[in-house]
Amino acid sequence: MSNDLALDLGSATTRVADARGALLLEEPTVVAVDADSRRLLAFGRGAPALASATAGRVRLERPVRHGQLVDIALAEELLVEVLRAAGVSRLAHPRVLACVQASATHVQRRALDRALRRAGARQVRFVEHPVACALGAGLAIEEPTGSMVVDVGAGTTEIGVLALGGLVTSASLSVGADDVDDAVRLMLSRRYDLVVDPGVATEVVRRTGADGAPPADDGTDAPHLEVTGRRGADGAPYAVVVSPADIRPSIDGLVAPVVAAAVDCISSAPPDLANDLLGAGLHLSGGGSLLAGVAQRIASATGLPVHAAREPSRTAVLGAARCLATFDVLGASVTAAPRR
Ligand SMILES: Nc1ncnc2c1ncn2[C@@H]1O[C@H](COP(=O)(O)OP(=O)(O)OP(=O)(O)O)[C@@H](O)[C@H]1O
Ligand SMILES: [Mg+2]
Repeated sequence: MSNDLALDLGSATTRVADARGALLLEEPTVVAVDADSRRLLAFGRGAPALASATAGRVRLERPVRHGQLVDIALAEELLVEVLRAAGVSRLAHPRVLACVQASATHVQRRALDRALRRAGARQVRFVEHPVACALGAGLAIEEPTGSMVVDVGAGTTEIGVLALGGLVTSASLSVGADDVDDAVRLMLSRRYDLVVDPGVATEVVRRTGADGAPPADDGTDAPHLEVTGRRGADGAPYAVVVSPADIRPSIDGLVAPVVAAAVDCISSAPPDLANDLLGAGLHLSGGGSLLAGVAQRIASATGLPVHAAREPSRTAVLGAARCLATFDVLGASVTAAPRR
């Protein structure tokens, strides 16, 4: 059995799978670094605990923002740990198939290629995120009939119309579910004068803004939630009760550009393919697809049936894992033509 690996270095979560589709690693894309030397001390779930135990001396950093490497040296150190934690020995030198944004430039691809090689990869190939998502959704993308995917991640949204094994139109947006968390934090502060940690805002979105939460404004079953924090005016402990209606405008702020870009992708696809989509529908994935109303809003704006992924956040890495079987015939990674 080969030791080929599929990698999805997500803005929120890093995932690694093998050619059999087994998930080898799923850890937050966060590292704890020494504040002075910037040496990596921990990554993933272990990082926040280390940072809080060593106040000041250790900083938490996220080397991937909006789907792009923002700190290449740190990403390289992170990838060393990722490969190790995925069970790869330093001597094994795996071949790695990494997901990249459809819009990733030559320079961005080369940066990831180099970081992976320095981390121990023997060979690197790339699969564009929407292609990986389509494969992860089980679509027969090599067919001439068109298909469409929308992946709403933490920091990016990737949209693609595919046919004959490749992207026909695509869009990469720098928005994702993390923006909803930020918007909710701002809303709590402005509307209720309640100051909360980012983690609290995420929890509020999960508990009151996820699908399954009734969309009613004041329905008795609506999961109203008591949120505690500090009052902005005087810093005193303070709690307010929020409802799904409080959260909805923040979700709308994410959905609006996603819907506009999806409609744009459909209208710039050849008419035959656009027609295929009426039957095939659109395949929705990414953790952000679990936000309340996202699927319905995309369905009504595009007029397409929307299919939700079974494991939305893992769709891309599992699709890339399927693609490992064709590693030998994939184009050399850094020469692949960037797309819009
Ligand atoms: N049940 C849920 N309800 C609402 N939001 C969720 C839920 N589960 C995950 N999320 C959100 O989805 C995002 C994570 O999605 P995902 O794992 O697809 O992102 P990623 O692949 O790391 O990021 P990206 O693809 O943007 O680089 C986070 O912002 C998280 O808060
Ligand atoms: Mg993702």
